Amino acid sequence: MDTAQEYKNLKLELEPPLAIVAINRPEELNALNQETIDEMGDCFAELAESSGIRCVIITGGEGKSFAAGADIEEISHDTVITGQRRALRGQRVFAMLEQMPQPVIAAINGYALGGGCELAMACDIRLASKKAKLGLPEVNLGIFPGYGGTQRLARLIGPGLAKKMIFTGDFIRANEALRIGLIDAVHPPDELMPEAMKLALKICSKGPLAIKAAKQAFNLARDTDSRSYRKYEAILFAAICDSEDKVEGIGAFLEKRVAEFKKK
Ligand code: COA
Repeated sequence: MDTAQEYKNLKLELEPPLAIVAINRPEELNALNQETIDEMGDCFAELAESSGIRCVIITGGEGKSFAAGADIEEISHDTVITGQRRALRGQRVFAMLEQMPQPVIAAINGYALGGGCELAMACDIRLASKKAKLGLPEVNLGIFPGYGGTQRLARLIGPGLAKKMIFTGDFIRANEALRIGLIDAVHPPDELMPEAMKLALKICSKGPLAIKAAKQAFNLARDTDSRSYRKYEAILFAAICDSEDKVEGIGAFLEKRVAEFKKK
């Protein structure tokens, strides 16, 4: 295993082509204090730059929590100024995650609440343990989701259900989250990480330039009008047509062999 940069509140394991980021504040149920959010920003920037990493998994590790939300103790001291700063920093870091060149899988091992649920929603694919519970309980504290949660939740499950979850603050179990489209698969607790790694490795076996372009296209489809999107999609597609990997992938299909992609 390669040596990764050391973080205080994150455990980063590099197992090229995979990187596993585990939030590591078990005493606080992985609550996302400002230091952890800042470390995530540094960690995502490090991973985005690392060409050997082709897929990233984010998890809360072995405990009962993926992330139990923003740190309530810290928020209790927030003023208008620091509250705005907190929301903007969190939004920026989660947007970085969403824009990472590599696909990111959330392996939701337990509670994904508030900012923890918002973190999972900024990932590309969400797998959860049967034991996971998800929710946006901020209204119980007299606040509301400030890390992009209203927008991302409405996009994933529709505005009505999103409003129901956010206005009630109710937690939902993994199977219900799967049913409404908030997550993409449920696994027994001890199979969650193996399944996340299996999926990540499967993605890594495909054409890396194509995966990167597809992720860019998804992000763009969301952020631009459909006319500009179609133009950009054609440009991305044209660029891929000029790649060695495209020649290799199609050649391998025609020659009935497994493709060996070189990210070129
Ligand atoms: N921020 C700061 N600390 C948190 C936290 C958060 N979001 N969530 C949990 N913790 C801390 C608790 O204060 C407690 O600390 P203590 O041992 O020093 O008292 C510790 O983590 C364990 O939590 P506890 O509540 O005792 O565990 P539980 O199993 O009884 O309940 C939860 C688990 C997740 C249901 C409960 O902790 C909870 O509701 N947390 C807040 C969730 C939330 O509102 N998130 C949105 C925040 S904006």
